[in-house]
Amino acid sequence: MCNMETLSINTVYCGDSVSLMEQIAPNSIALSFWSPPYFLGKDYEEDATYDSWQNLLKSIIALHYNVLKPGGFLVINIADIISFQDENMPRIMGMNPTNRKCDVTKDMILKVQSDFPNYNRKQIASILNCSEQTIDRRMNGNNIRGGKYAAGTHIKLVGGNIENYAYDAGLFLYDKRVWKKDPAWANCKWTTNTLKSVSETEDLYIFWKPGEYIVNRERLTPNEWKEWGHRQIWEIPSVRINKEHPAMFPKKLAYRVIRLFTDERDVVLDPFLGSGTTAVAAIETNRNFIGIEIMERYAEIAKKNVKNAQQSQRLFSYS
Ligand SMILES: C[S@@+](CC[C@H](N)C(=O)[O-])C[C@H]1O[C@@H](n2cnc3c(N)ncnc32)[C@H](O)[C@@H]1O
Repeated sequence: MCNMETLSINTVYCGDSVSLMEQIAPNSIALSFWSPPYFLGKDYEEDATYDSWQNLLKSIIALHYNVLKPGGFLVINIADIISFQDENMPRIMGMNPTNRKCDVTKDMILKVQSDFPNYNRKQIASILNCSEQTIDRRMNGNNIRGGKYAAGTHIKLVGGNIENYAYDAGLFLYDKRVWKKDPAWANCKWTTNTLKSVSETEDLYIFWKPGEYIVNRERLTPNEWKEWGHRQIWEIPSVRINKEHPAMFPKKLAYRVIRLFTDERDVVLDPFLGSGTTAVAAIETNRNFIGIEIMERYAEIAKKNVKNAQQSQRLFSYS
């Protein structure tokens, strides 16, 4: 390493975490809490391919071994199930009989086929007074209209990959919590035309860097221990107004993670800082932070939010 400056605490950096994380003091981070891009085509991941997205996660996770304190934690918030268009998926759509405009059924087509075994699709369609597309859809489940243009949706679990990347980096899976958020009804097209569920949870994968760690019951009140300290499912409303950033997690989520896994004055890292939620929660709980955000627009918003939180915290400590 040639004379690289070490990143300072309580600072928001604008840049790529893949290179900037190398400048974090080794063994200095008590907790790293973040939510990465989800490969959903948001403005900050427009050029990502599935491979480049996986490589980003892999590289960032690998960089954690050096910066985490022994006994420190890495907590990743991500939707475990992702979906993306994949040219290799079979182009078959679910049939929804309530959407059918034409009464021709598969049985009717089979009957015509057995009565006229030499008839082709066009001739069968003319006997049944329907389109060739209807014949094809009923018999093969193919949507020749939509399916010709749009690739099928590939569903993938990401938790296993993340666990493998962490394990390869020397970090062990310690626990998993589930954030029960608002149901994502924005996906209604997805659920209307399929048998799939609406997304209403995200996971928190918790990894540990081997070393002694503190189990300090004083970090939470007895009621907090009972309500969420021990509980796997955390019910927290989603951020409903994403004015500053399209994918913010709730400050309450960051609070809980920070208060459970760190003590005051510990350093909390977020290498995907976005609007600065983790940094603000760290400030408000008297922890230090380092935040990195690649997009200037969001880094500026994070800096503004951090400044406001620091000012309020100063006023609060004087009063
Ligand atoms: C899911 S968002 C995080 C939102 C954040 N938790 C909040 O509450 O505002 C992920 C963020 O990571 C940023 N990002 C993506 N790749 C990055 C990289 N290589 N280095 C730093 N930031 C990156 C994106 O620009 C985006 O703002």
